[in-house]
Amino acid sequence: MTTSILQARVAIDEERTAGAISPLLFGGFAEHMGRCIYQGIFEPGSPFADQHGFRTDVLAALRELNPRVIRYPGGNFLSGYHWRDGVGPLEQRPRRRELAWQSIETNRFGTHEFIALCRALGAEPMLGVNLGTGTIEEAGALVEYCNAPAGTATADLRVAHGAANPFNVRYWCLGNEMDGPWQIGHLDATAYAVKAREAAKIMKWHDPSIQLVLCGSSGTGMPTYPEWDRIALEACWEHVEYLSLHYYASNRDHDTGSYLALARQFEEHLDTLAGTLRYVKSKLRSRHDVFLSWDEWNVWYKDHVVHGGWSEAPHLIEEVYNLEDALVVAQWMNVFLRRCHVLKIACLAQLVNVIAPILTRPDGLLRQSIFYPFMLFSRHATGDSLDLNVRTPTYHTRAYGDQPLLDAAASYDTMRGEGALFLVHRGRDASLATELIWQGRAPDRVMAIYQLAGDDPSAANSFEHPDVVTVRESPGGPVDDRRIRLDLPPLSLTVVKYRQEQGATAT
Ligand code: AHR
Repeated sequence: MTTSILQARVAIDEERTAGAISPLLFGGFAEHMGRCIYQGIFEPGSPFADQHGFRTDVLAALRELNPRVIRYPGGNFLSGYHWRDGVGPLEQRPRRRELAWQSIETNRFGTHEFIALCRALGAEPMLGVNLGTGTIEEAGALVEYCNAPAGTATADLRVAHGAANPFNVRYWCLGNEMDGPWQIGHLDATAYAVKAREAAKIMKWHDPSIQLVLCGSSGTGMPTYPEWDRIALEACWEHVEYLSLHYYASNRDHDTGSYLALARQFEEHLDTLAGTLRYVKSKLRSRHDVFLSWDEWNVWYKDHVVHGGWSEAPHLIEEVYNLEDALVVAQWMNVFLRRCHVLKIACLAQLVNVIAPILTRPDGLLRQSIFYPFMLFSRHATGDSLDLNVRTPTYHTRAYGDQPLLDAAASYDTMRGEGALFLVHRGRDASLATELIWQGRAPDRVMAIYQLAGDDPSAANSFEHPDVVTVRESPGGPVDDRRIRLDLPPLSLTVVKYRQEQGATAT
C-alpha cells in the first residue's frame, strides 16, 4: 500500500518542440553471435519455421516490437566476416571458425536472408562493412553487390543468386568498435580514420545516395574517448553522415537508486559528442552536418559468457531482464526524444536471445521486461519531440547526487493530431501525484494509458511466469480544464496517449 504525498507537474505545449523524431531511433541490432540469428530469427526445421527458415513466432513478436531499422551482421563478428561467404547456393557456403565469439559459423544466413528479414518487418537494413580483416575493395564490392543495377560482374552475381533488383541499402557502418583492442584488426584512431575515409570514397563512388556511419568510441570508459571521435571526424567529416556511439548500462553495484538515474549519464554522453561534432564542423569551416547513431545500446552486465567453445549457435550473453532494467531502457528512450535534434539512429543491441527483448526455446518464446518500453516508444513516439516544463521532487543518489524523481519526454504528431507522454517514476516508496497541463492546444481526450509497474525492481519474466513485468492498458477519457491528474505508482513507466480533434488554444 502506498500513499500519494509527492507531487509533480508537467506542462505541455505542442509549439515548444525539441526537434523532429527520426523513426530510425527505434532500431534493432542482429549479430551473428550466440543464438541471435541461428535458433533465434532463423531456425530451419523448427515447428515455427516458414518455408525460408524464419521463425514465424519470432517474426510476429518482432512486428509487435516494430524496429524501424536493423543493423547487421555485427558487432565484433563483422571484423572477421567476408560477405561473399554468406551469398550464393547454400551447399557452397563455407563453414568457418568465427574468431570474435569462438563459434562455428555455417553461413546459412547471409545478406539475402537479412534483406528478406528487413522486408518482412518493414525495417530499413543497415549493413556493416568489415574494416578489420576486410579491405576497402571488399567494402566497395558489397555496395555494388547490393545496390548496382545488373550489368557488371558483381551486380550480376546478386542477380544469379536470385535478386534481380538492387536491394538499395541506404545505411552503412564503416566497421565496428575499431577503437577496441578486442576488435579483430583493431586500429589506432589515425589508421582507422584513413581506412574509413578511403572505404567511404569507394562505397560512395558505387552509390552516392548511401549514408555512412563512422565508428565512434565504443564507450565512455575508453581511454581514447572522445579524442578518437575528434580524430576520426576530422579525417572523414565530408564523407560521412553519422558518428556512432555504443554504451551498455549496468547495475553491477546493486545500487538501484543510482541505476535508475542513468538518464543523466546518457545525456552527458550525447552532449559530449554533440559538442565534438560542433567543434569539428567549425574547425573545418564545413557546411556539412554529421549526426549521431547510437547503434548499440542496452543493459548488459549479468551474463558474460562470450566464448562459444567452437560450437554452432552457443548460448552467449542471454541476459535476463527485470523491472529496473525496463525502466532504464524507458528513460534511455526518453533521452533519445530529448536529444533528437542530434541523435537520428539508435539500435537496441540485440533483438533476439543475445542481450535481447525476446528469448526463444524450441517450444516458444518469451517477451522480456525491456520488450514493453521499446514497443511503446516505437509505436507511439512519432512527429516532434516536445520540450516539456517539468516540476518534480528529487531523490538522493550515491552516484549523481540529487536527481529528479520524474523523468519525462513527449511527442506530438501534427499529421495525426496525436501526442504521447512518457513518464518514468524512479521512486521506490510512494506514488507521485502528477498533473499534466496543456498550455497550448488542449487535447479533447486521452485515448489510452499504458503502464508498466511493480514493487520489486528485480522482478523478471520467465517461461513459467511470462507476465510478471508487462504493460497494462487502461481507457483514457475527456480532458477537462486543459489538465489531467495521475497517480504514478513507484517504479513505473506510464505512457499517456492523447488526441486533438479541434483543440482549444490558450489565450
Ligand atoms: O552486442 C555485443 C557486442 O558488444 C558487439 O558485438 C560489440 O560491438 C560490442 O562490444
